[in-house]
Amino acid sequence: PLNSCDDVALWSAKRIINKINTFQPTPEKPFVLGLPTGGTPLKTYKKLIEFYNKGIVSFKNVVTFNMDEYVGLEKDNPQSYHYFMHHNFFSKIDILPENINLLDGMSKNHEEVCLNYEKKIKSYGGIHLFLGGVGTDGHIAFNEPTSSLSSRTRIKTLTEETLIANSRFFENDINKVPKYALTIGVGTLLDAEEVMILATGMNKAHAVHAAVEGSVNHLWTVSALQLHKKSILVCDPEATIEL
Ligand code: GLP
Repeated sequence: PLNSCDDVALWSAKRIINKINTFQPTPEKPFVLGLPTGGTPLKTYKKLIEFYNKGIVSFKNVVTFNMDEYVGLEKDNPQSYHYFMHHNFFSKIDILPENINLLDGMSKNHEEVCLNYEKKIKSYGGIHLFLGGVGTDGHIAFNEPTSSLSSRTRIKTLTEETLIANSRFFENDINKVPKYALTIGVGTLLDAEEVMILATGMNKAHAVHAAVEGSVNHLWTVSALQLHKKSILVCDPEATIEL
């Protein structure tokens, strides 16, 4: 653990920048970055923007793939992950619009969208670094408890715990939270060259415990990262109180 959630943001942002800059991406060989939404990574995005403004990093040759998206929210709905990413990050850096990939939760054919997403990731040779958060129930992206640990991008029904946790963005009304989401699979995440998960605050302590000290199991999908050869869990002290 680091000393505070600010340190989590700084450390994770520095690692991302270091990876991009040591890779030295070009238009032919871009750096492929997986990205999350949620409250936890917001500070990391702020730090990345600060570093970009100082000229320390450029995202011109970076391709991004987001983890997940709600089904049924228009892209300009402030609660959609499309909106979140553009508002909090993409509009503030020099990423090229054609290099941004997000799942389309408004499509008529979810299966096709998910299959194409997997194909597109493969066409770049995979993801170099996947940044993620974790749900209070240990879900990663929207891989809710009981998701297969070899799952690929698909539609998932959200659990009641997730609906309750995310209702804070929907006027605290769980009926307003979309019931389904498109999400990369646990298998998709495990394929990334490196995975970096951020966990801050006491409400993530159970998930951190399950991730680090629990058995690998599909009830806490974050625990699958124990199988990954290069996964990092970046925490503040509160998130580690159950260890
Ligand atoms: C959502 C997202 C996850 C995220 C989780 C935790 O369910 N699909 O990717 O990790 O929320 O979010 P927060 O960081 O706000 O606690």
